Amino acid sequence: MDMSQATPNDLDALWMPFTANRAFKQAPRLLARAEGMSYFTPEGREVLDGTAGLWCVNAGHGRRQIVEAIQKTAASLDFAPGFQMGHPLMFQAASRLAQITPAGLDRIFFTNSGSESADTALKIALAYHRSRGQAQRIKLIGRERGYHGINFGGLSVGGIGANKKQFGPLLGNVDHLPHTHMQSNLFTRGQPEHGFELADAVEDMVQLHGADTIAAVIVEPVAGSTGILVPPKGYLERLRALCDKHGILLIFDEVITGFGRMGANFAADLYNVTPDILTMAKGLTNAAVPMGAVAVSNEIYTQVVENAAPGIELFHGYTYSGHPLACAAAIATMDIHRDEALPARAKAIEPEWQEAVHSLRDRPNVMDIRNAGLIAGIELRPRNGKPADRAGRIMQRCFDAGVLIRTTGDIVALSPPLIIESSHIDRIVTTLGEAIAAEAA
Ligand SMILES: Cc1ncc(COP(=O)(O)O)c(C=O)c1O
Repeated sequence: MDMSQATPNDLDALWMPFTANRAFKQAPRLLARAEGMSYFTPEGREVLDGTAGLWCVNAGHGRRQIVEAIQKTAASLDFAPGFQMGHPLMFQAASRLAQITPAGLDRIFFTNSGSESADTALKIALAYHRSRGQAQRIKLIGRERGYHGINFGGLSVGGIGANKKQFGPLLGNVDHLPHTHMQSNLFTRGQPEHGFELADAVEDMVQLHGADTIAAVIVEPVAGSTGILVPPKGYLERLRALCDKHGILLIFDEVITGFGRMGANFAADLYNVTPDILTMAKGLTNAAVPMGAVAVSNEIYTQVVENAAPGIELFHGYTYSGHPLACAAAIATMDIHRDEALPARAKAIEPEWQEAVHSLRDRPNVMDIRNAGLIAGIELRPRNGKPADRAGRIMQRCFDAGVLIRTTGDIVALSPPLIIESSHIDRIVTTLGEAIAAEAA
């Protein structure tokens, strides 16, 4: 193409992430302002947020307390290095976070995103085994349909083929457990009855690779990005038991399920299964400043840090680990979660949410509905030869009708802010139901 003939517009320069750039730039969807449960387009049209941004604005938009904390900190400490130096807010944020992470996971490493948290967790697992004389434990086990971000480590243990195929061989020494989606569990409310034995695939990995070569198993307690796969009853407990049996670390990726989303601080609390390492991001700062974190067991910290020779114990970190603005936002966010009891609020409204989303069952082409906490997945029958077309059009219809939903393939994924009220639930489900009906053909 002769670029001199191309007409540049002000959308040209940006290469958008995880977006069909060409289609988007033909018909952009822009969000210019946000407050409470809603976005507003540049023209001022309200769009109700059925997705908490990208699973992250759990306390609702534009929270003054968070805005003011960021403003105040920006004016007093724009940045301080976190390597061989520190600043009070990073210690304060870690202490506050350690108070709400599951008991025993009291040591916090800061990152800037969920992807960085996943890679950090995997590296800590390897460093842990090495430091106790088990350097041969280098295998990392993920799960089909898992999503752990897009850096090389998380991508390698992730289980979404489309995300990997452009990028070569990725990490070696990786294998995957089977995913937990089963036909016998369709339209389950909450945790499915069938499938806990899928965790026994850990034994297959042990048979195949040898227990003493496996460093860690990493799973999302509820798989989000591949369309809401809720763990079968007993599944996470079984994973925990098998990892213990074989000396394998268990990592929960709670980037989506953390910070009240499940009606508890973390999915680990809800399901009463404590991993050795827990990754976070998104809701940690209410998404107002990018931040991620990894909580590790005291045993891992002691092994890697306290038992090390003098000097740097872990050769890992980011320039912006514990950035002052992110720490200020995280502390203000945790204040809001505490003062407004957001996890309890999510739990209280969950039954109503569950009833409402399952009311879509009889709409055309609905193949399955799944829910946990304030998350729901509605799986639609793909159009012949046009995967993702039906859901994509439904998303556009909802947006035009003033409701933001998210789709992954032909699955609609909903995850509203935890401040949602009954009238919002009605509006999301009614608008979505009408859009599904309008795309019946
Ligand atoms: C479970 C999980 N892990 C990791 C990530 C990656 O987070 P980020 O996009 O902040 O890198 C996501 C993002 O959706 C996620 O859902």
